[in-house]
Amino acid sequence: MSLTFHIQPGGSLHGALRVPGDKSISHRSIMLGALADGVTEVTGFLEGEDALATMRAFRTMGVKIEGPENGNVHIEGVGREGLKQPQGLIDCGNSGTTMRLLTGLLAGQGFDVTLDGDASLRKRPMERVAKPLRLMGADIDTGEQGRPPVHIKPVKSLKAIHYDLPVASAQIKSAILLAGLFAEGVTSVTEPEPTRDHSERMLQGFDVAVQRLGATASIQGGQRLKGTKIQVPGDISSAAFFLVAASIAPGSDLLLIDVGMNPTRTGVVDILRLMGANILVQNERIEGGEPIADLRVRYAPLHGIDVPETLVPLAIDEFPVLFVAAACAEGVTKVTGAAELRVKESDRIQVMADGLHLLGIDAQPTEDGMIIQGGQPFHGAVIESHGDHRIAMSFAVAALRASSEMTVKDADNVATSFPGFVSLAVLAGMGISAS
Ligand code: S3P
Repeated sequence: MSLTFHIQPGGSLHGALRVPGDKSISHRSIMLGALADGVTEVTGFLEGEDALATMRAFRTMGVKIEGPENGNVHIEGVGREGLKQPQGLIDCGNSGTTMRLLTGLLAGQGFDVTLDGDASLRKRPMERVAKPLRLMGADIDTGEQGRPPVHIKPVKSLKAIHYDLPVASAQIKSAILLAGLFAEGVTSVTEPEPTRDHSERMLQGFDVAVQRLGATASIQGGQRLKGTKIQVPGDISSAAFFLVAASIAPGSDLLLIDVGMNPTRTGVVDILRLMGANILVQNERIEGGEPIADLRVRYAPLHGIDVPETLVPLAIDEFPVLFVAAACAEGVTKVTGAAELRVKESDRIQVMADGLHLLGIDAQPTEDGMIIQGGQPFHGAVIESHGDHRIAMSFAVAALRASSEMTVKDADNVATSFPGFVSLAVLAGMGISAS
């Protein structure tokens, strides 16, 4: 039976919270820790289904991994040639990051392996990673219409390429750089807009040289990784639900502790501030190569804006909840240049527009974004999350400004990125329960 959220309307948020570990960094800690020589110790690991899928994948390839226990993970790296062919296919669950990064990492391993996933992942485009990897000499098949399963066949060697990314995607960039580790020569990737750079930063933490020149990242093949310690910061994509919640709920004053503030991820803070949000960035520091800070957010009346397109890749996972902020903001908010939202865990433009309509909000979906007329009162409704974790949490947040109860169906997948969401939300003051 699937999980349903019931959220009472209204309320305000107070106190201090630490959201779970960053999903992108957690995935990469397992991948690089597995390929390293020696032990890698991770703290703050996200114990969510997506990161656990990556962990299981490496266990099936012969890597000894202990944990997670209170966010601690101990990985006994097998070295760059040490992965073993898994028995059966690798199940990536709901996780696009697992599937796309693994496709790059496994392209040059010399064994036959198939990656598959759940119904949502099976709808997502995989040719975008297979195509550049084939240019490197990889032998990869995707399923119907370029979707999973992804079948990687052994090849003798990979050769370095230069690739201009057709879309701003950290997953494609990372897949190529990871394949580049196993290729002859220098592999380089140029991105049309900056995307999250956790792979580049973490590779350097494992003693691998990655060059950055303007919009181009490059890596010399053949380098070895050295086991290290990784501290995973709180996930700004999870913090985003509380940033919006406290911004729209009158009387709120909330502190979010240890949030990852990598500049390739902070678009949500910039966009909310442009809308008039009151967010203070405190106690800024660098831990394990990643900037982190505490964020104090207080209620503020928001106003509509044209979201600058340059901020879109820096907030790509936060748009579902930013659409809720827009619905509560006085005037019109316009999002453009965000067509990628249509190929996430659900079609986040259509699914959000459908849900906002049910609340009585004027939201017009477009090819690459949405136009929202905000500031009007709205009511609660029964919302279909389409199994998308971020849709479910976004409508839970919307209840803070609704005039009647909100119900969110099919909310199980919240556990992929934000285990403990309901209890943290209750702790902060939201009237939410799950059944
Ligand atoms: C991710 C990159 C983003 C993001 C996803 C995680 C990553 O996807 O939406 O949740 O960890 O590299 P794209 O790079 O495809 O935009």
